Amino acid sequence: DKGNHRHFMQKEIYEQPIVVAQTLRAYLQRMEDRVTLPIPDYDLSSIKRVTIVACGTSFYAGMVAKYWFEQFARVPVDLDVASEFRYRTPVMEPGGLMIVISQSGETADTLAALRHARSEGQTIAAVVNVPTSTMAREADLLLPTHAGPEIGVASTKAFTCQLAVLAALAANLARAKGRLTPADEKAIVKHLAQAPAALNAALAYDEAIEAMAGAVAGARDVLYLGRGTDYPLALEGALKLKEISYIHAEGYAAGEMKHGPIALIDENVPVIVIAPSGPLFDKTVSNMQEVQARGGKVVLISDYDGVEAAGEGCLATITMPKVHPLIAPLVYAVPVQLLAYHVAVAKGTDVDQPRNLAKSVTVE
Ligand code: F6R
Repeated sequence: DKGNHRHFMQKEIYEQPIVVAQTLRAYLQRMEDRVTLPIPDYDLSSIKRVTIVACGTSFYAGMVAKYWFEQFARVPVDLDVASEFRYRTPVMEPGGLMIVISQSGETADTLAALRHARSEGQTIAAVVNVPTSTMAREADLLLPTHAGPEIGVASTKAFTCQLAVLAALAANLARAKGRLTPADEKAIVKHLAQAPAALNAALAYDEAIEAMAGAVAGARDVLYLGRGTDYPLALEGALKLKEISYIHAEGYAAGEMKHGPIALIDENVPVIVIAPSGPLFDKTVSNMQEVQARGGKVVLISDYDGVEAAGEGCLATITMPKVHPLIAPLVYAVPVQLLAYHVAVAKGTDVDQPRNLAKSVTVE
């Protein structure tokens, strides 16, 4: 049932504040300022290395998580798309943790990667949305997302719930490694607990995003740029746009622009720049200015301070609430989802059932 929404995708984008809150309830003990896992007896302290494997949007959630595991827990992370992981003879030392991430829990390549890792003696953690799925059954540690059924083929609420779970896992791993003080943990609880309200605030920009979707709907190619955890967001934005609007889109690390893709820039290629204010902001803005100097039309997605500092000369700006960097990937997922959604609606494509795509990919 779509309720009063036109598409399942739109409904699912709007459910994010609630389902992220629902997911966080299973991982945050707010009275005690603790981040816990629903597998209380498991000891993560001996984990020396993490391997993260997934496909598509779930892979981009894993890419964000790599930054967090390395930053908080100082544990090295290998990251692969599942279809490549299986065939590159990856090195997995005993004592490693394999994390598979999947909405459906049935994606063939991810499941095969899980089984391969098991045969190599890895402990398997599965971040899955369907609790009865094959991956949920085969994992040692089940870390459910509580997004509820996702019907739209383009994944939205599953992604933000995956990020919530992965942030909780990163905090738990950091604590097990002796790298999380009670004060750090308290701060993480506080920031994660702010995510639902921040997602709500981000949704308030829906109409503004709809109003500028026309500027993107006419394009043949679109670029998305970001740095740090906004780089996976750029990739996710491009994936969302191409799968539902059929516009060719690419995500790039902002610093990689000048190593090739800048040759594509002209006034016909909108460039979506994802850049919350913070330590990486100035660097990304200088990449953005390289685009503008070549006649490129920039859509800047930032917070009030970022838009004030760098919004001039942009084709459009989208102002997000100012949030802590830990929850920025969840919050900035909203405008990239909404932009793809409104562009697809403007183009009249089948938003919930895009051509050539299936919700669950159970073949290799
Ligand atoms: C993109 C999308 C796909 C899935 C991918 C993995 O919007 O929906 O890229 O993310 O097929 O699916 P799961 O998460 O079920 O393993």
